[in-house]
Amino acid sequence: MEKTFTVIEEGFFSYINNSLFAEKVPIELLANQYGTPLYLYSAGMIEERAEEFLNAFSYVNPLVCYSMKANANPAILSLLAKKKFGMDVVSGGELKQALEAGIPSEKIVYAGVGKSKEEISFAIAKDIFCFNVESVEELNLLSILAKKAGKEVSCNLRVNLDIDVDTHHYTKTAKIETKFGISIPQFFSIVANKERFSSVAIRGIHCHLGSQIKQAAPWIIALKKIKDIADKTSFTVEYLDLGGGMGIPYSPDEEVDSIQTFGKKVCPLIQRYFPDAKIIFEPGRFIVGNAGILLSRVIYPKQTEYKNFLILDAGMNDLIRPALYQSYHHIIPEKIPASQENIPWDVVGPICETSDFFGKDRLLPASLHTGDLIAICSTGAYGFSMSSNYNGRGRSAEVLVQEKDHRLIRKREIL
Ligand code: LLP
Repeated sequence: MEKTFTVIEEGFFSYINNSLFAEKVPIELLANQYGTPLYLYSAGMIEERAEEFLNAFSYVNPLVCYSMKANANPAILSLLAKKKFGMDVVSGGELKQALEAGIPSEKIVYAGVGKSKEEISFAIAKDIFCFNVESVEELNLLSILAKKAGKEVSCNLRVNLDIDVDTHHYTKTAKIETKFGISIPQFFSIVANKERFSSVAIRGIHCHLGSQIKQAAPWIIALKKIKDIADKTSFTVEYLDLGGGMGIPYSPDEEVDSIQTFGKKVCPLIQRYFPDAKIIFEPGRFIVGNAGILLSRVIYPKQTEYKNFLILDAGMNDLIRPALYQSYHHIIPEKIPASQENIPWDVVGPICETSDFFGKDRLLPASLHTGDLIAICSTGAYGFSMSSNYNGRGRSAEVLVQEKDHRLIRKREIL
């Protein structure tokens, strides 16, 4: 069973003389210095992705608000602040973290179906750029709280456009049966009664179609629907927030529209329909997803009559995506052994749940043994940010690599 191991993020994570490197640093050195499990990020790749995104949509000069739920490490937020990114936040906690990272409040948008009174008041006090309002009930509360604060606040109405996208059903957010956004009939009625919300300036429309969407086509449908509902109500779209959701490859052969293709397909339509609107995007995964790996050591290579289990020191508390969405993550060894004999392994964690796995029947070296290092790829987005203390386990450390440099950007949590 021959197999050569390939990386998705060539150039930022690559094999040199059969050992895996993050930029110019051998990851074995990082595992020895910082311990495992360890989240490793390539600063060079995050910067490159940020620039690619800005270039792809430069034609419409957008405000790009990184969706910090993907990965809110302060060091990553400050890399993006330097690239002039704003932030898409979904809680008072995220708003606080964004401000602490030096993001100007006039570049912060705030979405979420359940913003509390305290959270809304906090965001009003901080003069954020725009609320993305998800219900009539929220709009009422926002209006009352803005009036109380003696301010006029800006908002977009997040419209549920009832668009299906090709992704896991847990990450579809624009179908009418999901909890997100305001339905089109409700949008019509809000716009017809705008003056009822006296302290709120309804400036535009927000939509977020879902996550890990691999083609630009759904945004074309969205733009047409938005144009249609705006025309029907003579509503001037001053701000147009097209959300995030742009997909990434999770395996070396997974095909995804490049961000340049997204830009080429979407920008002309934006320009045609909404030439005067301020455009906003909220990418999360695209910026950081491929720029991170979860590095872990083999605790036991447990072999039974039925299966070969590679039991790692990382578990579903570190990376829940395979358990929650049956997500595929590419798994590669830190060292490519000379023999190259590979066998199928179930790569699992130490947690007491059958769902605690990272991959099944993965061809990996037969020679793997206790202490060997394994990299779980494309874990920069929704990896650490969804980690937990389940089974009494501390959250893992995080390290940022840039060329030959590396630094600890979050200490390992010891319980
Ligand atoms: N904007 C809004 C309003 C969102 O709800 C999200 C993600 C984004 C932007 C960013 O989406 P992205 O560009 O990262 O796809 N935990 C799941 C993904 C959940 C996404 C939730 N919302 C996963 O691990 O796949």
